[in-house]
Amino acid sequence: MIYVLNGPNLGRLGIREPAVYGHTTYADLVKLCQETAHALGVEVEVRQTDAEHEMIAWLHRAADEGADVVLNPAAWTHYNIAVRDACSMLSGKLVEVHISNVHRREEFRHHSVISPVATGVIAGLGVDGYRLALEHLARFAGNASPPVNSVGQR
Ligand code: DQA
Repeated sequence: MIYVLNGPNLGRLGIREPAVYGHTTYADLVKLCQETAHALGVEVEVRQTDAEHEMIAWLHRAADEGADVVLNPAAWTHYNIAVRDACSMLSGKLVEVHISNVHRREEFRHHSVISPVATGVIAGLGVDGYRLALEHLARFAGNASPPVNSVGQR
């Protein structure tokens, strides 16, 4: 099982700041992930929450199962140490995804407290980032990703 977990306000995709996040709705995103997983022959569970405790419970479950996770932590990316600590417990891979290119936006979005504990990060490719993350996880399921540098890749 691969968990695709989405943080606060992402349930409003399509309605929310379309100039930044595009016109794809959250329902479209769920469908994209399910269709991608089906084509790749992997199982996926796509979820969204605005509640920190719920996200943390989902991460605990993924940790207990040794599952891989695609996470868009949304605003929590930039300050939520509890979400980061839960991510640190994962033994599977963690791909952090952002729809927008956070580095082209306000300075407070340039820093992620999640990235240091993520396997890799995809930002700025719209919802296609989710598809790419799932492809990567399916390709390297059960194996280490090819190292891209010598520091702490898992
Ligand atoms: C986001 C970027 C965050 O800065 C923002 O708070 C979001 C969405 C993205 O997908 O681009 O809610 O994670």
